[in-house]
Amino acid sequence: MFVPIGATSVHPRCFASLEANGRHVRKRKEITMDIGIIGAGSVAQAFARHALKVGHTMKISNSRGPSTLRETVQTLGPGVTAVTQAEAAASELVVLAVPWDDVAGALTHLPPWQHQILIDATNPFHGRAGTFTLADVHGLSTSQFVAQLAPGAKVVKAINHMLVANFEAGGDVNGAKRVAFVSADDADAKNKVGALLRTFGFAVIDLGNLRDGGLIQQAGGPLAGLDILQRM
Ligand SMILES: NC(=O)c1ccc[n+]([C@@H]2O[C@H](COP(=O)([O-])OP(=O)(O)OC[C@H]3O[C@@H](n4cnc5c(N)ncnc54)[C@H](OP(=O)(O)O)[C@@H]3O)[C@@H](O)[C@H]2O)c1
Repeated sequence: MFVPIGATSVHPRCFASLEANGRHVRKRKEITMDIGIIGAGSVAQAFARHALKVGHTMKISNSRGPSTLRETVQTLGPGVTAVTQAEAAASELVVLAVPWDDVAGALTHLPPWQHQILIDATNPFHGRAGTFTLADVHGLSTSQFVAQLAPGAKVVKAINHMLVANFEAGGDVNGAKRVAFVSADDADAKNKVGALLRTFGFAVIDLGNLRDGGLIQQAGGPLAGLDILQRM
């Protein structure tokens, strides 16, 4: 069953009630997150641009070390720092955006996860653009595979069904909303990621758990690559 989520979920900007001069006043309070990204390519940079726009800070990493990311950091602008993979993975919310062949290498040497949310944006393709072949994940969704390699992380599958150009373009399309899907076994983590994607401008649909939802939205599944719009 497809369930639109997040309509009543947390927005990064919320109101706090404060006591001042004996009166209750409503004050705007910005809630921002420190988001880590493992990967610094097209999906990672598109994610960073959306997150920066709504006020989050980003820690971006690749396999070759922070010094190789100077230009990327400069292009993305204020709010972004280049870090090691371990530093990125220590953030409260982490995005995994590396090619499938690099997933195991990226996750294997990280310190233990401390219940952070890990958004798995990967698709099961061997090789690079132009020479892709579908990878056999032994009946698992990629996110189940990722969850096995990241015990202690709350894995949420998201973003991966969208072509990066559509993700980059954002949620507003001629009066309709572009749809983003989320799947996870942890309901709270799924709600948080759904709420975050809504702040990026997307309509969010819950596809269920990591296995069933994951298989539907990842490469090889029926939703992969589709650009789906919701009229509000
Ligand atoms: N492109 C799309 O339309 C699209 C859409 C949705 C999902 N996806 C999926 O998202 C993932 C990323 O795709 P992409 O298009 O962003 O790829 P990309 O542009 O090729 O970028 C991949 C990034 O991963 C980094 N990387 C490789 N190994 C790493 C490691 N061990 N640790 C940290 N970083 C590492 C690479 O940097 P170094 O080589 O310098 O380490 C590079 O910055 C893939 O799984 C893809 O299937 C892609």
